[in-house]
Amino acid sequence: MQQQEFINKTAAFVQERLKDAESGHDWWHIQRVWNNTKLILQTEEADSLVCELTALLHDIADSKFHDGDESLGPRIAGDFLTSIDVPSSTIQHVQHIILNMSFKASLGEVKFHSKELEIVQDADRLDAIGAIGIARAFNYGGYKNREIYNPDIPFIENQSKQAYKNTTAPTINHFYEKLLLLKDKMNTDAAKQIAATRHQFMEQFLKQFYCEWDGER
Ligand code: ADP
Ligand code: NI
Repeated sequence: MQQQEFINKTAAFVQERLKDAESGHDWWHIQRVWNNTKLILQTEEADSLVCELTALLHDIADSKFHDGDESLGPRIAGDFLTSIDVPSSTIQHVQHIILNMSFKASLGEVKFHSKELEIVQDADRLDAIGAIGIARAFNYGGYKNREIYNPDIPFIENQSKQAYKNTTAPTINHFYEKLLLLKDKMNTDAAKQIAATRHQFMEQFLKQFYCEWDGER
């Protein structure tokens, strides 16, 4: 029961802290990633306390909004978990995952690995695809004042650090540079299955998008 108490206290902390967060990484994103994590845990064997705490804390301080300081998130997470007396081995594991699981970190060399990291990373990636993924992409594009699509601006199909930094491209390009690649990056079988359905939905969306763009039914 103590485990559930740690989780509930952490959820309350995160919800309060993210109440003014931008919509890409707000409390609802955290809640969806937490739900995805619990879904994956139904069929994957892992330390569920570590997974759930990490799902809740993984975006507590996005380095993009804090001058690229990647140590801030793990620090805030660690300070909070220490304050509610979570065992230190659990805290360290949570901190290692937060530091290492971002898409950008996964492009570089892998420094830390665990089953729990695989699960939360999958849960986070699942929230970037499917219907929610589409909504988040256009929301982000709108925030950045990007075009939704421009047939004259080609996308870079081979995802790389370069493509990730293709920061002025229309939002449709982001599908080819990141979103459609995510299904093959899933670690766990559970997430692979969920991703397959969400991937199909994005393919369907793009097909319809181009039809409508070209003035077809
Ligand atoms: P993560 O939450 O995995 O760290 P990001 O912070 O990069 O991902 O992105 C948050 C959301 O914004 C995701 O749904 C992502 O797909 C979307 N996004 C990021 N970059 C772009 C982009 N260039 N165009 C459209 N959507 C984007
Ligand atoms: Ni996230």
